[in-house]
Amino acid sequence: MRVLVTSDYRALSLQAAQIVAEAVRLKPDLVLCLPTGNTPLGMYEDLVRRHRQEGLDFSRVRTFNLDEYIGLGPDHPGSYRAYMRLHFFDHVNVAEQNIHIPNETESDGYEQAILEAGGLDLLIVGIGANGHIAFNEPGSSFASRTRAVALATETIANARRHFDNEADVPLTAVTVGIRTILEARQVLLLASSADKAGVVERAIRGPVSESLPASALQLHPNVLAILDQAAAVSFR
Ligand code: F6R
Repeated sequence: MRVLVTSDYRALSLQAAQIVAEAVRLKPDLVLCLPTGNTPLGMYEDLVRRHRQEGLDFSRVRTFNLDEYIGLGPDHPGSYRAYMRLHFFDHVNVAEQNIHIPNETESDGYEQAILEAGGLDLLIVGIGANGHIAFNEPGSSFASRTRAVALATETIANARRHFDNEADVPLTAVTVGIRTILEARQVLLLASSADKAGVVERAIRGPVSESLPASALQLHPNVLAILDQAAAVSFR
């Protein structure tokens, strides 16, 4: 796995956006697999800027999100669909019919849609404090594909701050699997802040194990990890 250490979160975000922008310019109908969460916010912001200022054209790009909570209406502000609209889709020209977000009833259909699109060209992931990628929590099989999963206690606790009511905090989600992730042609792993330093080091340098889902990325031939200084203490 190649590791790129950037000076700070802004540099990480610009670097990630640059890689996405170049891939879109090279292949205008790129198949992109996209994360939510805090880490990619700066990347989305810079992609929106590039669309506005440089005319970066997403009109033929196909997008597949990594995951979505189960049980929230599509307009629920805590849903990943709402996040994607707020931070990206509403500000660029991705065509509505090219947007794919997994849902509980169609998880096999999601894998089929990825296949029909020609497979994932570029997949971007963050990493959870417990080593999850997408919502593949510790213990997930490396052979897993898109499916409904129970969220780890720690993941549920972290999600709490995004929901007004305790009762709305999702306990389950639909996520692409580890196998789905490993089949993408290129993977970008983004990690920012000191909170992630320990788990990032174990994911990149530690043993490959289903107890640390992100370690599966060591099995992929084309992964670039972009870390800011704080997340990269052991890589300087
Ligand atoms: C989000 C996702 C999650 C996050 C991870 C890190 O679509 O799949 O695995 O990437 O929980 O989240 P942040 O970036 O908020 O630290």
